Amino acid sequence: MRPNELIKHKQNGRPITMLTAWDSLSGALVEEAGADAVLVGDSLAMVALGYATTLPVTLEQMRHHTLAVSRGFQAAEADQPLLICDLPFLSYQCGAEKAVEAAGLLLKETPAAAVKLEGAEKEVVEAIDRLVRMGIPVMGHLGLTPQSVHRLGYRRQAEDRISQERLLRQAESLESAGCFALVLEHVPSTLAGEVRRTLAIPTIGIGAGMDCDGQVRVTADLLGLTPRQPPFSQALVNGQTLFVNALKTWIKKQSSSSFAQDGS
Ligand code: KIV
Repeated sequence: MRPNELIKHKQNGRPITMLTAWDSLSGALVEEAGADAVLVGDSLAMVALGYATTLPVTLEQMRHHTLAVSRGFQAAEADQPLLICDLPFLSYQCGAEKAVEAAGLLLKETPAAAVKLEGAEKEVVEAIDRLVRMGIPVMGHLGLTPQSVHRLGYRRQAEDRISQERLLRQAESLESAGCFALVLEHVPSTLAGEVRRTLAIPTIGIGAGMDCDGQVRVTADLLGLTPRQPPFSQALVNGQTLFVNALKTWIKKQSSSSFAQDGS
């Protein structure tokens, strides 16, 4: 799938689904489940690498994990989901040239077809404009932007009218810079609806209500595997308990027999 196909989905009123993946196992799961797009999000810093925030993950680690995710895909190339990779902290904040180098490397050395960047500060919009002109599709990300955790925290964003109008203007500037889609994280649903109606590009929400053109979730949250479940992202199964109990049963079985007879 190509990035611009997501715009067609919006035009046709077809809801978009995006799930994160961080290795070949999770890549295989989300592809098999039928996600339209797979995001190798920098949330893998917390989900897969055990960091407390997304800030420490490096470009090289994002490259490594994107390759692993792509190796999990089983479908013929034309039928695979759109693969998007997050640009990590400090790979695009220090100038458009650095952003092109970072995003270019990901597109050159992995099968990712697009990158995602957080925020809409002047420098970020300039970087997006340059990336798009250089042929690199970009997804924007507004609202709760975890790379700014030390300034914004993890709380819901744009609660008052002034910050809502600012976010609306930022969304328009990202669309003008050439983004093909926009993630809205942890913002009021009424604001998400306003953004959806204002923009021609699709809005993909997480903790932003249902008035979006699509939804994205961190797969480990949906599967109940994350140690800290975000309040706006409910687990579908309690994966942690399910898997630990299965493993406990296996360990108990092995410990109670002097020799595993059948090797299972
Ligand atoms: O890194 C990530 O997983 C994300 C999603 C929450 C959209 O950016």
